[in-house]
Amino acid sequence: MLSQFGFSGAVLLSLSLFCGSASAAKSPRLIQTSPTQRQWMSEREILDLSRKSHDAGHCGGFMDVTDHPVKKAEFLRPFSGYQDRLPTEQAVVSRLLAEVSASNLEASVKSLSTVFPNRFYQSLDGVGSSHWIRDRFLEMSNHRNDVTVQLFKHGFAQPSVIARIQGKSRPDEIVVIGAHEDSVNWQSGDERSMIAPGADDDASGVATVLETFRVLMESGYQPERTLEFMAYAGEELGLLGSQDIAESYQKAHKKVVAVAQFDMTMYPGASKHIAVITDYVDPGLTRFTKMLVDTYVKVPWVDAHCGYACSDHASWTELGYASVFPFEAPDGEENRKIHTAEDTLNILDMGFGEHFAKLAVAFAVELANGK
Ligand code: BES
Ligand code: ZN
Repeated sequence: MLSQFGFSGAVLLSLSLFCGSASAAKSPRLIQTSPTQRQWMSEREILDLSRKSHDAGHCGGFMDVTDHPVKKAEFLRPFSGYQDRLPTEQAVVSRLLAEVSASNLEASVKSLSTVFPNRFYQSLDGVGSSHWIRDRFLEMSNHRNDVTVQLFKHGFAQPSVIARIQGKSRPDEIVVIGAHEDSVNWQSGDERSMIAPGADDDASGVATVLETFRVLMESGYQPERTLEFMAYAGEELGLLGSQDIAESYQKAHKKVVAVAQFDMTMYPGASKHIAVITDYVDPGLTRFTKMLVDTYVKVPWVDAHCGYACSDHASWTELGYASVFPFEAPDGEENRKIHTAEDTLNILDMGFGEHFAKLAVAFAVELANGK
């Protein structure tokens, strides 16, 4: 059986411009491109590799494992009993869904993509945007004494942000809802200063996380399990922030029971279906999430694939935690503007984005309160 990094060398090397690229760090980085392939690469080598293959119609992900060279392949899964679960929290969820607002989603995407048009993990705006996200969480929760908001620092400039609502009866069991806060423009130029609005990739996901948190805060909802809302730093450089966090949670023996990733939620494919990624995720939690779509969002869904560790859910999956990744478009209908200066608000569909905010609210309550 292939491990969770089971993708072929051919796919790995066909990095295209709109897909992931490389670390801009000065010293060599350890880049994992397959279960058996790891190599030290300079900044130039990694950037060249990414940019060489515009023609391949798909992405070829990698993980920068420089700071996490030893991974535990052991699959804990003690908390992953989702195969047989049905939605049970309709009474609470239905009331909350009516509160989700497309105009709030739009306002967050607008701020992130225009006030911080380059959220590169080493840029000033990258740091500023994480402070902005932290301040939004603080502002929305200042009436609550069961909420903490903190920056999670890494070995690079941009910190991640974590807002935590303490669970009432099972505080040691944690449900994570996350998105990545950084952006990048992989066209030629200096990554630190080029325009990289990242409206879809991934201001859309951060807006989804913020709106979910707002709806829960304004309703006075108190979860049974602990809910953690995360904005990950350095995703575009090889899942740097989420790997740091997942590893520190594993070391602290934290019981993360479920993780949802929201990365690109507002640029629908032609069919306007929710695409549910089926690789590098937990199959039971994915099945349950499809039931949440049917029950609460009522939009058709289709199976979709990344083919590699394409976003932060994979950092959790790799350490044995159950993750899920609902995505905006079916295979082959992806937004081709990501990682360019044209990934802007005006190409997005807020009505479609609203479906993901509803799904995130449903996920939060069902996972935090359900059996
Ligand atoms: N949002 C993308 C992932 C993505 C792109 C998923 C297109 C589905 C369709 C993410 O921010 C990204 O760019 N990931 C990199 C990999 C990462 C590990 C550097 C990629 O896709 O190559
Ligand atoms: Zn990206």
